[in-house]
Amino acid sequence: MRIIIGKDYDEMSKKAALMVAAQVLLKPASVLGLATGSTPLGLYRELIGMNQRGEVDFAQVTTFNLDEYYPLEPDHPQSYHYFMYENLFNHINIKPERIHLPDGTATDIKAACAAYERMIAEAGGIDLQVLGIGVNGHIGFNEPNPSLPVETHLVDLSEETIQVNSRFFSSVDEVPRQAVTMGMGTILKARRIILLANGRNKAEAIKRTVSGLVTSACPSSFLQTHPDVTLILDQEAAALIG
Ligand code: GLP
Repeated sequence: MRIIIGKDYDEMSKKAALMVAAQVLLKPASVLGLATGSTPLGLYRELIGMNQRGEVDFAQVTTFNLDEYYPLEPDHPQSYHYFMYENLFNHINIKPERIHLPDGTATDIKAACAAYERMIAEAGGIDLQVLGIGVNGHIGFNEPNPSLPVETHLVDLSEETIQVNSRFFSSVDEVPRQAVTMGMGTILKARRIILLANGRNKAEAIKRTVSGLVTSACPSSFLQTHPDVTLILDQEAAALIG
């Protein structure tokens, strides 16, 4: 695992943007796996700037997002669909038909999850997966559990995640209790992974990500088994590691 530490959130975001831009420069038709949450906002802001200055071109890029609340309509302001269009897709030259997110409204959820896996495979697999991390070590919405599904699936959110994510909703009761998420296997199949984390509240999860046992009690610990993972942290998130 490579670890890059920026002095603050801005520096972390810029370093992450350089890695994504380098990926797209080297392979213009890259398949990117994308994350939501407050952490990658700075990364997306940097990428928008680079795209608008003509430094990086998303015309041939394909994207697959990690997760979506279930059930939630795509035009709900707290949906990850809405988030991605607001904070990235509406501002860069990506082709709408190359954008993919899990369907938060599917009635046949098993079929929708299988179709998502198929689309990723048909696109050639994910070249670069961007991840954030939950305070409990979840990635995507793979919550700590005795066992973890390999592929895209419907998951019950933990009480802790519902509480933490309620800050974006008007009340905790409005937070969906379930989500559709790529599985750990989907994520670990990506050729390269970058995980971003900032702030002191992520320090414990980062410590468990980089050292100690690989355990489904901390899903991010599975990243230790992947050959090409880079953590991009601010100093606070890196406070408990070497
Ligand atoms: C959500 C998302 C994760 C994200 C996490 C952290 O639960 N499903 O993909 O990494 O939140 O969010 P934040 O970056 O806001 O701390």
